[in-house]
Amino acid sequence: MIEISHLNKVWRSGARTVTALDDVSLRIAAGSIFGIIGRSGAGKSTLLRTLNLLERPTSGSIRMDGQEITTLPHAELLKLRQQTGMIFQHFNLLAAKTVFDNIAWPLKATGLIRDAGARRARVLELLDLVGLSEHADKYPAQLSGGQKQRVGIARALASRPKLLLCDEATSALDPETTQSILALLADINRTLGLTIILITHEMQVIRDLCDEVAVIEQGRIIEQGSVADIFLHPRHDVTRALVAQSDPLLATILNPSRLGVTLPGLLVHLTYSGETTWQPILSQICACSPAQISILQGEVSMLKDTPYGQLLLGIQGEAADVAQIFNILDEHQVFHEIIPARTHAAPPAEASEDTENSEAHHA
Ligand SMILES: Nc1ncnc2c1ncn2[C@@H]1O[C@H](COP(=O)(O)OP(=O)(O)OP(=O)(O)O)[C@@H](O)[C@H]1O
Ligand SMILES: [Mg+2]
Repeated sequence: MIEISHLNKVWRSGARTVTALDDVSLRIAAGSIFGIIGRSGAGKSTLLRTLNLLERPTSGSIRMDGQEITTLPHAELLKLRQQTGMIFQHFNLLAAKTVFDNIAWPLKATGLIRDAGARRARVLELLDLVGLSEHADKYPAQLSGGQKQRVGIARALASRPKLLLCDEATSALDPETTQSILALLADINRTLGLTIILITHEMQVIRDLCDEVAVIEQGRIIEQGSVADIFLHPRHDVTRALVAQSDPLLATILNPSRLGVTLPGLLVHLTYSGETTWQPILSQICACSPAQISILQGEVSMLKDTPYGQLLLGIQGEAADVAQIFNILDEHQVFHEIIPARTHAAPPAEASEDTENSEAHHA
């Protein structure tokens, strides 16, 4: 367990100060994959770098497995850094060393494995883990981006860390290579029980890999929770804008004119997850209500291991019929909200207050 409490980081240059971290508190479960998202300059890298004290916080506490790390003496700090691997967007490999030597180097330089034979055995094991056994004698310039990141991962895992920090580790890779690196990270998380904390501007990476996510804006945590919770019910405007990058349905909700049609009636957003995803709810509401229902946009997909569905419906009918539909949705624990749509004709009189208030209906 990593417990970050009231962490602050202030940069001072002359009379100017920049608050990069502002009262940040987070709990990250051991063995989980935790994502940090936010706009450029929000403080993501600063937060990540405080976790191995590459950056010293101005104040606040970081406890790892109960141990306060911000006050560790130098020798203990070196040990902590050995227990914390890090990978970067641009790989940071040594160009003049082979793949083998790039991985062996930290083991040699820190004196972690002094015996050359044992070191060789460990490097061969790591090459096998990241699927690079055939490439041990190549130099970084002879590798693809994905292969370079595999070397970065092997090097980061060389000292058997308990924590892996990833700063935009897939941002320089094409989508297919990104998927293969994500699969490797998921595999490492599962088989080695390693905690992974990652920063990325690619929302799809968070959707595919993470268990939990925190959103940072101007150094403050503005939202945090499970990926399913944050991605299906983003509350803060910054979070909604970030999530909309990988969610065309949310993009339409934020800007209903994207639909390009003017329908009479209500624009209604449904969200459901888990078992509900597979239930025939649409056919039930059609059978029970005479309201006219059109599907304007929708998707059924997965957030890591959680199935979910989202629909944008046009509903036209008497207020009582619409209310009946909402009752059925409540019974099935389907989240529903009426989206105010400037491009839409006025909703039925009884429902218009809801529309104005954009009232969300929770089950
Ligand atoms: N060494 C430094 N000295 C002064 N200010 C810094 C330093 N490093 C970062 N900052 C400032 O701290 C703030 C947070 O920077 P940080 O690098 O953590 O952002 P980020 O969220 O990682 O952004 P990006 O997505 O662009 O990488 C920014 O305003 C940045 O200018
Ligand atoms: Mg950064």
